[in-house]
Amino acid sequence: MKVFVTRKIPGDHLEKLKSEGFEVHVSDDNRILTNEELLAGITGADAVLSLLTDKIDGDVMDAAGPQLKLISNYAVGFDNIDVAEAAKRGIIVCNTPSDEVNEAVAEHTWALILALARRVVEADEATRRGAYKGWEPDVFLGTNLIGKTLGIVGLGRIGSMVARRAAGYKMNVLYNKRAPDPEAERELGVKFVTLDELLSSSDFISLHVPLTPETRHMINKDTFAKMKKGSYLINTARGQIVDERDLVDALASAQIAGAALDVFDNEPNISPELIANQKVITTPHIASATWEARNKMGEQAVSAIIDTLKNVKPQNMVDEKVWDIRRK
Ligand code: DGY
Repeated sequence: MKVFVTRKIPGDHLEKLKSEGFEVHVSDDNRILTNEELLAGITGADAVLSLLTDKIDGDVMDAAGPQLKLISNYAVGFDNIDVAEAAKRGIIVCNTPSDEVNEAVAEHTWALILALARRVVEADEATRRGAYKGWEPDVFLGTNLIGKTLGIVGLGRIGSMVARRAAGYKMNVLYNKRAPDPEAERELGVKFVTLDELLSSSDFISLHVPLTPETRHMINKDTFAKMKKGSYLINTARGQIVDERDLVDALASAQIAGAALDVFDNEPNISPELIANQKVITTPHIASATWEARNKMGEQAVSAIIDTLKNVKPQNMVDEKVWDIRRK
């Protein structure tokens, strides 16, 4: 059986696939494939190990052929896959959620919150440029976190891990999600509020919702207008949740004091205005880039392939119902 891997992944997980006797085709190019390359590479595959940079739509599934059984996505997010099209065809979709990945993303979120509050990136740049001439009373003044309010949009696994860490900084934590979560409130000491209340009361707003038609550009000119003046926005979820043009305007008008972004509206392109803005911290979609997280992602993505191709129900199916209508 053929397994197509769209790009090399860290660790020796792919060896496991080979030792199971599968015919493993790994793209030779260590880069994002073009659509044509993806269509050619996937032809005849029984399973594909895809990355979040691979757009897997109905055309790609058709190019693979009727024997395609599994799309194993090396990511927690799966907005790059047309899950409904896959379900229609009986193709299983798996992702790679784990504590290791969730904690890596939560820790990166905190790296960004701290970097924003204490202007770490700007200060580093100035120091390297030789601007440091001795201690000064008024350079790079930031803000203490103690007593400030952190607003978490989406209190799922990652959002909860971000919330748990806020206790260490003695921050107040507000959250919004579809419905209040009394257990999380007891365990984490967080408070459910409407999105509008969260926006108007938080000093730091951190996004932890998946990208769906409802969340696409949910942070836009209207929501920026509702934010507390001088607040900070952190996005380690998906870039398209924020309307980047409106973010540029919210920064220009000082409606918000800064933003830290690991993800962008049109990756890997970033608005030049954001790149040039000192109030913005950017990292290149690396929130899950720890050895521990990537190792777990490789392990899970490969296990899903081995299980599915051996006709064993895999873990982390995005839509469990597909198991009963799957292609055998
Ligand atoms: C994910 O797993 O969805 C992350 O965005 C990868 O860093």
